[in-house]
Amino acid sequence: MSLSQGSPQKKRHHHDGLTSPKSFSNPSSPTKKLKKSKYANAPSAMLSNADELLRSVSASPSKALGSSSRSAPPSPSRSNHASTSNGSDPAAWIRDALKNVDQRILDSRTALPITSGKEAIIEAVRNNDTVVILGETGSGKTTQIPQFLFEAGFARRAPIQMIGVTQPRRVAATSLARRVAVEMGQPDPAVLPSVKGKARTAAGGLVGYSIRFEDRTTRNTRVKFMTDGMVLREMIGDAAASSTNSASASSPALRSNLLLKYSVLIIDEAHERTLRTDQVLGLAKRIQRERKAIRQSWIARGKPSGEPEVTELKIIVMSATLDADRFANFFATPSTALAVSPSIADSKILVAANGKQEVPILYVKGRQHEVTMFHTDQPAQEWTDAALRTVLQIHVSRPPGDILVFMTGQEEIDTLARSLELYSSELPAWAEAEGKQLPMAVMIAPLYAALGPSASAKVFGPTPPRTRKIVLATNIAETSITIPGIVFVVDCGLAKEKMYTPGTAVETLQVQEISQSAARQRAGRAGRERAGECYRLYTQEAFQNLPLAGTPEIVRTDLAAAVLQLCAMGQDPYTFDWLDQPDRIGLQESVLQLIQLGALKIEAVPPTPTSNGQVNGKQAKTSAKLALTPIGSKMAMLPVSPAYSRSLIAAADRGPTVARQTRDLIAILSSDRSILIEPSDPEKRDEANRAKSTFVHPTGDHATLLTVLYSYLAEVDKSRSMAKGRKLEGKVDVKVVEKEAREGVKAWCSNHYVYEKAVKNVLHIRKQLRNICRQQKIVCDDDPDQLVNGADAESDPDNLDSDSDTSSSSQPNRDGLFVTRKPTSTVTQDTEEDQHYIGLRQSLLEGRISNAALKNPSAPNTFKRIITSASSSGLFKVHPSSTLHPSKMAREGGGRKMDAILFEELVFTSQTFARTVSTIEPSWLQEFAQRG
Ligand code: CDP
Ligand code: MG
Repeated sequence: MSLSQGSPQKKRHHHDGLTSPKSFSNPSSPTKKLKKSKYANAPSAMLSNADELLRSVSASPSKALGSSSRSAPPSPSRSNHASTSNGSDPAAWIRDALKNVDQRILDSRTALPITSGKEAIIEAVRNNDTVVILGETGSGKTTQIPQFLFEAGFARRAPIQMIGVTQPRRVAATSLARRVAVEMGQPDPAVLPSVKGKARTAAGGLVGYSIRFEDRTTRNTRVKFMTDGMVLREMIGDAAASSTNSASASSPALRSNLLLKYSVLIIDEAHERTLRTDQVLGLAKRIQRERKAIRQSWIARGKPSGEPEVTELKIIVMSATLDADRFANFFATPSTALAVSPSIADSKILVAANGKQEVPILYVKGRQHEVTMFHTDQPAQEWTDAALRTVLQIHVSRPPGDILVFMTGQEEIDTLARSLELYSSELPAWAEAEGKQLPMAVMIAPLYAALGPSASAKVFGPTPPRTRKIVLATNIAETSITIPGIVFVVDCGLAKEKMYTPGTAVETLQVQEISQSAARQRAGRAGRERAGECYRLYTQEAFQNLPLAGTPEIVRTDLAAAVLQLCAMGQDPYTFDWLDQPDRIGLQESVLQLIQLGALKIEAVPPTPTSNGQVNGKQAKTSAKLALTPIGSKMAMLPVSPAYSRSLIAAADRGPTVARQTRDLIAILSSDRSILIEPSDPEKRDEANRAKSTFVHPTGDHATLLTVLYSYLAEVDKSRSMAKGRKLEGKVDVKVVEKEAREGVKAWCSNHYVYEKAVKNVLHIRKQLRNICRQQKIVCDDDPDQLVNGADAESDPDNLDSDSDTSSSSQPNRDGLFVTRKPTSTVTQDTEEDQHYIGLRQSLLEGRISNAALKNPSAPNTFKRIITSASSSGLFKVHPSSTLHPSKMAREGGGRKMDAILFEELVFTSQTFARTVSTIEPSWLQEFAQRG
């Protein structure tokens, strides 16, 4: 152990280190010894750098640009607006809205570092179109700034003006909205019904959120948290929005969605540089300048009363790292995307509105206590093992304080959680044998994007007395989320990232080294509340060799969805105002892919007259531009990847049964959790495989997954009708009957290795997809107009579970539980085609020819993609988890014909594997590849 020198703390660490490895034998691997992790003592590089960041809140030199052209959004102190139609006093409305503010939290809120900067922030936002705010994670940016702006009058009751806050992550959007709702004394948005239409006008509080497949907003929402994906969707403007948005309906100039209901857009966690954040940055910049031009033009024309008043859009970019200049410079320069949007007649006004801006940068000084850094002496062989040892070492030898472990993904987290449970259950015996004081109890709290709200309660809730909370998190905890109580951080130095190599046309999740900047963020999580310690599972030299900053997603991801969205907004992806220009080859590939899918076409453009009416003289030439096809615009409306939206449209052409199957399968594949439990222990795995064999469909994993879902629904139906029968007999307690029915389903799930929580999540997604399909006229054979009880969303068969933590607890119509309906949610196999899921597999293939592969004759059990790159051989095998893996086929006396396959993703471990695989007919490939 090399922690000998240094502070008394470190010495204590040394002396109290584990001394009895044998006591920690793992029952499943008795030979495994628990060795100590070795840390070299390291000077704190992190702290000296952090000091630079922590400058006090001060607006960088920026003039107060109070010229008449800079109209602030409505504020009580500057009521430059005509009184609202309902004649209410905005200041009184704000007072009234804030009367329930939670006084108990007020103290801790005022103690946040950001509070001292409140006035400076409000002033900066008032005086500038765009403001960049930098601040340490936990300083209060996300929770407080929307409230500052609300209090200062940036939201308006009528016509609606909201403060929008974007987040790259779903968990952050929901947990922050709920936190802000509590602080503002508003009802919990998570209990609002998540449906569009009628329910959206229902009463709700000021704070809401909107994430994919879950819209918890109402007409009362004024502070809205959303993922960047959702705000992008609003920027495209869906059919439903334009029909309810009177402004856009009445004025042709406002056709494109200009986020007119927002007075402020806060683009949060901009440093994460996700592709969607980058898109939002470019589009928000255009929208801001376009709205400014429209407003100026309206003012110049004497504020014609026949036209709706368009307010300006304030943009706030927030970041937790030192990259402010990039964002400030980006917003300071004119938008290149606006030039192609001729919605303002007067070009002088447009040019003025699109001029240079001054963008102040505000720094928020965070409160950061000292963090003692430890690096390993030697590179760790197995970081998961090193993490386990380090956590246990901290637990038995360090004073109270929670531990946060940064890991790569769900699988690793679940595995470590199991090992920790196992070891910690042996700790009391170990302590007794060693004559040591009994260590505290352990509470293990996993945290990854796929976990539902119930899991995050464990992470954020108070740690019980005499217990140490151990949070096992992905990089989600790096900047988006602040976990209270953390004193120790264990950092594996890795993160899972999407990687896309142009030329291979397949995106993979790969484990990557993090950047130095990310490593500092991770370490900083330990010093939030008091002095902390950070244990890096890598050497100091390894840290020095990490890249300084991460790569923006835009240069390593599949751009097809982004290109489709931009085209749907009338933007040219090649000339779009990107913060970082994407790789041109990647762009071209995405365009080609979308052309192949029939979403885009190349259109000839005749020479355009200039604004003074003349044709561009000699150079007048026909050019070409990308145009959206009707299929493309339909695809852009579906909130799934282009591959899935294309599959869904293809399925609709094959009839309502195939459409339903495809919709349900996409719900399964869109969920971030697997509905089948994959035990890591080999013995258990065999047992699980046997239990699951009832679901296996000979065509492969897609049909198998669908069978799991339909079998679950059949099971729910069965236990429900039994319960109904017993209820009708009237001799038993209704509650007891319902509980037994639920427990029956639970038992069925555990016997079949079905992960019920994940299935419920799929049903939740399915319900949203069902609504979207209906809106997009994709007819499925279980549409409610075919149900006996009509289209009552509340009687949706998915929404029956009263203890489901995702569904609303306030479903009014309990009788809706027993609505009579066509048994389509159960297994229906009435035709030959249905039995073989031919239509389903063909529809899937139509969406993703690039994920098809042919058997490779030269090596057994290998496949080769039909579209391959020069850089890779394109050879791979079927993943062992697949029902089509050779080992399973052999056991079942298989030998299925597998000349061609379709797969969902490729994963690189020791070799390349395809996951979620189905067989297809080679002749289909020929048919679809030649189309388009
Ligand atoms: O955005 P930033 O990282 O600057 O901070 P924040 O998310 O606004 O959080 C500010 C503080 O609010 C945190 O340090 C926590 O003390 C508290 N908070 C909380 O208790 N529960 C939450 N769900 C979110 C924040
Ligand atoms: Mg934040």
